[in-house]
Amino acid sequence: MGEHLTMKQELLITGPMYPPTVAELERTYNAHRLWTAPDREALIASLADRLTAVASSNSGGIDGATIAKLPKLGVIAHFGVGYDTVDVDAARARKIAVTNTPDVLTEEVADLALALLLATVRRVPQGDRYVREGKWLKGPMALTESLQGKTLGIIGIGRIGRAIARRAEAFNLKIVYQGPNKKGDVPWRYFAEPVALATEADFVIAACPGGEATRGLVSRAVIDAIGPKGVFVNISRGSVADEPALIDALKDGRLGGAGLDVFADEPRVPEAFLAMDNVVLQPHVASATHQTRQAMGQLVIDNLAAFFAGKPLVTPV
Ligand code: 8YV
Repeated sequence: MGEHLTMKQELLITGPMYPPTVAELERTYNAHRLWTAPDREALIASLADRLTAVASSNSGGIDGATIAKLPKLGVIAHFGVGYDTVDVDAARARKIAVTNTPDVLTEEVADLALALLLATVRRVPQGDRYVREGKWLKGPMALTESLQGKTLGIIGIGRIGRAIARRAEAFNLKIVYQGPNKKGDVPWRYFAEPVALATEADFVIAACPGGEATRGLVSRAVIDAIGPKGVFVNISRGSVADEPALIDALKDGRLGGAGLDVFADEPRVPEAFLAMDNVVLQPHVASATHQTRQAMGQLVIDNLAAFFAGKPLVTPV
């Protein structure tokens, strides 16, 4: 077989993702890691005349300026259901396909949303610290709020929002939701306004996409409406909440607690959160299980394979 028949296609991987997926991409393609490249501009320039495919991720997306430097680009296969770090408008304008990793992580992310809600309301990490620090020997821990009979407001009733709602109903929570549109196929009460939702709800979970359309949606007014006994949980994107307002409200006791998997400037978490006893913090792990990350990676692999085979993409956005 001639060498030309086994020539590997070029692939630019713009950010880190599940390591076995990166390893498989590196076996299949002539893959280049942008996020560790000593000179990123030089790498992009060296590939510009032939690069047709990019694999991107949350911490290493692809912006419009980079897309503009890759005139042959045909596909961006994104590792993650949320693709706010990919300039989709710039891709669309050039008819570059974008794929993401929906469905395979829905149940996993919903599990962590409920874990954060339960942990924050029932103060599970605080209880763990109470035992470890020997405080139980001196007396019982303070009582907490209850989940029972309360109302959960879900911002964003897509796949993940619905999976959260199904779980929350099993915990006897009443569901209400907010989003850009009322959905005909869900039984729960709809609120167009986030403040109205937060006023009705005891707890609010953000499960909407990130990006400009939802930036600061959980505003100071929304946080105040959740209230001093209320809890806010975020498993979507840090950008969805006004983080300084969240910090102020938690400090002042205007918001009861927060369970946060995502932050405005990951992995840098504001110092203020670290000192607070009414927050439960996670390092953006809602999809971070072996099984789910493997399945997400497989979708990236399958979408790229479909692109190079000229077949329909598996999960275009
Ligand atoms: C990220 C996520 O992909 O799917 C998403 O939108 O937020 C996560 O699953 C994660 O940051 C992967 O590195």
